[in-house]
Amino acid sequence: MSDRLEILRTGFSQAAAYRQGIPDRPCGMARGYGEMLETFDEPLPEYGKAGKAVIEELVQKGEPGLTPMAHPRFFGWVLGGSDPVGVAADWLVSAWGQNAAFHESSPTVSAIEQIAGQWLLDILDLPRTAAVGFATGATVANFTALAAARGAILRRHGWDPDADGLFGAPPITVLVGDDAHTSVFSALGYLGLGRRRVCRIQTDTQGRMEPADLERKVADTTGPKIIITQAGQINTGAFDPFPAVVNIARNAQAWLHVDGAFGLWARAHPSYRSLTTGVELADSWAVDGHKWLQTPFDSGYAIVRDTDALRQAMQIDASYLPAQTGAERIPCFLVPELSRRARGVPTWAMLKSLGRAGIEELVDRHCSVAKQVAAKLDRVPGVRVLNDVQLNQIVIDFGAPNASGDDRKASTEAVIQRIRDQGVIFVGGARWKETWVMRISVICSATGLTEVETVVDTITSAWTEVQAGMVEERILP
Ligand SMILES: Cc1ncc(COP(=O)(O)O)c(C=O)c1O
Repeated sequence: MSDRLEILRTGFSQAAAYRQGIPDRPCGMARGYGEMLETFDEPLPEYGKAGKAVIEELVQKGEPGLTPMAHPRFFGWVLGGSDPVGVAADWLVSAWGQNAAFHESSPTVSAIEQIAGQWLLDILDLPRTAAVGFATGATVANFTALAAARGAILRRHGWDPDADGLFGAPPITVLVGDDAHTSVFSALGYLGLGRRRVCRIQTDTQGRMEPADLERKVADTTGPKIIITQAGQINTGAFDPFPAVVNIARNAQAWLHVDGAFGLWARAHPSYRSLTTGVELADSWAVDGHKWLQTPFDSGYAIVRDTDALRQAMQIDASYLPAQTGAERIPCFLVPELSRRARGVPTWAMLKSLGRAGIEELVDRHCSVAKQVAAKLDRVPGVRVLNDVQLNQIVIDFGAPNASGDDRKASTEAVIQRIRDQGVIFVGGARWKETWVMRISVICSATGLTEVETVVDTITSAWTEVQAGMVEERILP
């Protein structure tokens, strides 16, 4: 018994020490994948090792290859910072050993998920009667919501794909913005709707759907339709023009889905909320907890207005499972998994600890950091800010005014590499339209306005060094 306690204590103290030390550590990885593979590569043990020693070995071997996602200067991908409150709640989820499938499997978890779901609808201001499924992230939330969409619109055309499959079903036209997130295309693939078999809608320089093109293409098609929009483009943070898109969807009787993985949280702030006006009129939404809500991984929410459509898509029956008799929320009827981690618990804890005001402050702080960094970098010769920084995302590239696309790509990659090698800040790289860019995502709960100068100085000096290196390379034979 004391042995078990010792194992738990070891895990706790190692984890707490790691978290405590993050701000003082370099914002980078000491070792890459190849080295980590070598570190862990050994034959399957014939006999077990003491639990405490296993945990100590895990920490000693594993820490050098951890990515500093909870670091205040981590801007590499659009990821939250696993806030300590969510982490502690998540530890309890593991320690309690609960399976979140249905009420009897864990009354506490079921009740918490019900309340957390209501709170999410409240803070995101979505229809209060919508169903909320607790999924692993926006990828699976997109899949889950689009499964509901597929069933609902085909049933309107006399076909039940959830029971009878897609063979022989009336063809569905799926209309998607050209700059939609890749997970949407994956979801369409899983659903038999095809990654490629979509009608792509032209987008503007920020990645927003062009409503005129959508209207034209909707008019050109007959039969069931799903329109997929986004609140927060992964590179630029831009929002589709919802009021116009909602009108078009309504007139066409199309199902309207919103991928709002991070951008939907803009609704928690009175000034940013207007970017999302009209979003509440959609049929389904996908949003992440492990982004702006700062829950630990993994956590995403599939929100669907038509609860029955979601239940039919996720239907699972067995003698030992509950049956849906009334309207009550049964967790396993709202997501693809039966046995599942209790993701509602860290969600509840984060909503409780931040409250409305705390989430508003996070959105405000992160957007202010992004705007200040972008404004300062835009004044640096050779740096181009390529997006209209309305939210928390910045895309920039580097190069002399007359540099070719290839030269700009080479300088941008070199700046990113130099910054990664230094370990002061962590930035990402991505393709945006035809350009290779540095992407800065300000979304970690630990990031504050005090980081602005460090971010600008680090990027500016890396760019200066790259320019010097490039000049040298040209001069030297
Ligand atoms: C707009 C958008 N949709 C979907 C996703 C996928 O989310 P997840 O990685 O949580 O599955 C992301 C991830 O950044 C995103 O930005």
